[in-house]
Amino acid sequence: MPSLWTAGHAERPASETEVRAAESVDVAVVGAGMTGLVTAVLLARAGKNVVVLEARRIGDGTTGNTTGKVSLLQGTKLSRIRSKHSAQTVRDYVTGNREGLGWLLRYCESHGLSTQTEDAYTYAQSAAGLDDARAELRAAREAGLPVSWADEADAPFPFHGGVRLPEQAQLDPLPVLDSLITELETHGGRCLQGARAESVSGTGPVRIKVNVRGGEPARHVTITAKHCVLATGIPILDRGGFFARVVPERSYCLAFEVPGEITRSMFLSTDSPTRSVRYARSADGKEHLIVGGAGHTVGRGGDERPGLDELAEWTKTFFPGAVQTHLWSAQDYSPADELPYVGPILPGADGILVATGFDKWGMANAVAAGLALSGRVLGGHLPWAAAFASWSPHELAGLGAAAKANLEVGFHLARGWATPHLGRDDVADGQGMVSGPPWRLTAHSRVDGAQHSVSAVCPHLGGVLNWNEVDLAWECPLHGSRFGPDGRLLEGPATADLAAR
Ligand SMILES: Cc1cc2nc3c(=O)[nH]c(=O)nc-3n(C[C@H](O)[C@H](O)[C@H](O)COP(=O)(O)OP(=O)(O)OC[C@H]3O[C@@H](n4cnc5c(N)ncnc54)[C@H](O)[C@@H]3O)c2cc1C
Ligand code: FES
Repeated sequence: MPSLWTAGHAERPASETEVRAAESVDVAVVGAGMTGLVTAVLLARAGKNVVVLEARRIGDGTTGNTTGKVSLLQGTKLSRIRSKHSAQTVRDYVTGNREGLGWLLRYCESHGLSTQTEDAYTYAQSAAGLDDARAELRAAREAGLPVSWADEADAPFPFHGGVRLPEQAQLDPLPVLDSLITELETHGGRCLQGARAESVSGTGPVRIKVNVRGGEPARHVTITAKHCVLATGIPILDRGGFFARVVPERSYCLAFEVPGEITRSMFLSTDSPTRSVRYARSADGKEHLIVGGAGHTVGRGGDERPGLDELAEWTKTFFPGAVQTHLWSAQDYSPADELPYVGPILPGADGILVATGFDKWGMANAVAAGLALSGRVLGGHLPWAAAFASWSPHELAGLGAAAKANLEVGFHLARGWATPHLGRDDVADGQGMVSGPPWRLTAHSRVDGAQHSVSAVCPHLGGVLNWNEVDLAWECPLHGSRFGPDGRLLEGPATADLAAR
């Protein structure tokens, strides 16, 4: 399901020879999303020898499937942080995001990349959402943002009042990623696609075992680096236990062609079902409406179709004549204490750095993470980075949420194994089913007529997988790893494919 941004984007897997050419570097960045590429460019600009390893294609992760709003008003994010942290911590979070947003927009301007300046709204669709919207107004004001309350907005859908922050931005993320790679290369760096990091050992220098998929069968190359930055969404190493500190949340985006003028401002509702709205302008001047919603914790969505149908119906009701052109989905990681985790994987271990927990607000946060991580490698100090620390006392504020999330993980682990799996292996097209005894649970699926049977057990920590009928993928309900029907790893903390059956 290519997004509006990734549709038609070319794939260029690296050869084994290209990966071998990067066997010894200053910094190996794992993951070519916004976080990884901004970090890589900043370090390469400073003279570091940098390689970026990307398991799939550029844009296959969350950055290529984002909604692309670049805003300091982030739904109810500021009030949620404020409910757990001091006013100063919220200000530091906003400062980091302001730095990230400013860097990104300056980068786009100086590289001729298109962005649109629009107002952002956090709004109530009904009276039920007003309290949350007003709480966000208070938190945003306290953090020093020039927000105002709006009883009305220029939108064709129900708007019960909301917070308005003028002059935020929106973009197409793919030209930004492409441009970052071009700049990386001009500084002598490389971005290698189809190169999956499977393990990282040592503390500095570190050794990264890379699975090169450019040719079959896959080959392994070991890269040695002084620093390794894991910009993989959720970190792929269990050290630091980040898989237990974030919750993987997946949601859907739909793009439509709409007759007439499309709403200009960017909207995100406080009340359910979530509505995220923006327009997008492609290079040929054509405009699309993008709506987002129908979110669920990865692997725990049940039947995803009704939520999506409801979102599409809502769009057609309020934008008459809208014709759907794209459907895509992506996941991001919600941190237990509401703040991103950016820094060493373990306290004091600067050889391996991580960045995660952007909670669906990674455009400015990923750049802030890049600034903080590159500053850390280069020996700089950013005062606001305290709000982004991977290890800090503010973590205590998330203990309750982390405990609850891990209880739910325990529940889903037990349920996966205790449920009798009586499914059949002759499933209908588009369907997937788990069957077999506990010692040989098998995931059967059929996609476009092709039948696949693979292990139903996640190679990360043993979760039993669930089928996502919309995405045609297996999802782990524990920490969000995802696999194609043929068992090939798509994303998540797992680093291996599902075993063949
Ligand atoms: C539906 C949705 C809508 C969103 N909309 C917005 C928005 O409007 N505004 C906003 O600010 N934020 C938004 N976000 C959040 C934002 O898109 C993300 O936070 C951000 O893109 C994360 O960037 P990243 O570089 O950290 O991760 P990613 O873009 O996911 O990049 C990680 C990369 O690492 C690669 N990788 C993973 N494992 C390995 C490995 N072992 N070896 C090598 N490579 C590996 C992946 O293939 C991937 O390319 C949204 C998120 C979602 C889910
Ligand atoms: S992602 Fe952790 S067990 Fe599957």
